Amino acid sequence: MKSIQAVSYPVLFEKKAYLELSNLIDKNNYSTIFILVDENTLAHCYPKFTPNLATQKRIEIIEIESGEINKNLETCIGVWNAITELGGDRKSLLITLGGGVITDLGGFVASCFKRGIDFVNIPTTLLSMVDASVGGKTGVDLGVLKNQIGLFANPEIVIVDTDYLETVTEREIKSGTAEIIKYGVTYDINLFNEIKDNKSLNISDLIFRSVEIKNEVVLQDPKEKNLRKILNFGHTLGHAIESFYLESENKENLTHGEAIAIGMVCECYMSSKLLGFPIEKVNEVKEVVLSIYNKTSLLKEDFSAIMELLKHDKKNINGQVNFVLLNDFEDYKLDCKVSEELIVESMEFYNV
Ligand code: GLY
Repeated sequence: MKSIQAVSYPVLFEKKAYLELSNLIDKNNYSTIFILVDENTLAHCYPKFTPNLATQKRIEIIEIESGEINKNLETCIGVWNAITELGGDRKSLLITLGGGVITDLGGFVASCFKRGIDFVNIPTTLLSMVDASVGGKTGVDLGVLKNQIGLFANPEIVIVDTDYLETVTEREIKSGTAEIIKYGVTYDINLFNEIKDNKSLNISDLIFRSVEIKNEVVLQDPKEKNLRKILNFGHTLGHAIESFYLESENKENLTHGEAIAIGMVCECYMSSKLLGFPIEKVNEVKEVVLSIYNKTSLLKEDFSAIMELLKHDKKNINGQVNFVLLNDFEDYKLDCKVSEELIVESMEFYNV
């Protein structure tokens, strides 16, 4: 079985991974197995999952409503109440079966319940397979501000089963692709080139390499003091754009990946102006992004609201926004200060 060892847990690939889950359950003699789903993963992923779960333990399903808009403390309270009413105790196991919202929120819920119960992540979207389910970040949004409340906590195991990708939309797959592009431009240009060339992409290989990269980074810097900040490339402005669309009632929400893809184009542009990142490479990233995602017109009149949201980025210190920028592909600079004018200019560059 293919696997990657993270600091205290394995990321397991392929069907044999479920045997490890059964072993984990036997070994720890859990009292109850809670499975956190949303209405989509209950309908489409749970039927694929349940034949693989060999256990006599009591199983309880807890369903939350899908969508980033529900990734908040109110939903957590609902899940904590459900676990309590269903007799959850310290020996309970929570299995998260879903995308980034489920794995982030579920990990947070588990780590706080009675000061922490074990959890297992089973990501069902590309985004959660290559990013959210691995690396120990858990949490929820505060209003539209992304991931403001949370903690680092590691699952017991992560199971990456690409069969679940059959249950998600093309738009979801594209959302996860943005994170693979991020690993490509910051860490391993081969990944970016594979997506750019778009020749017989092997999704399992792309996922495996992405998890390998994420794990290498997280092992060196689990608490994001330094190197791990590269995983935020494109996310600083991208999160502000994502939040802006979330809070704008008259605009359709962007997926995380759509927002991050815009953020990466803009941050490549900032890199070219501040660090001499070659403009041909900025254009290459922009071309790849526009070949995958529909163009979003960022309206001039929205720039100030986006700038306002940027002020809440988690990496900010003393009110100063900190960007990860690129000297070149695979060559980054952390904690870059960027003027408001250049941030606006970068959004204008994306627009043309
Ligand atoms: N998603 C970025 C990180 O896990 O650090």
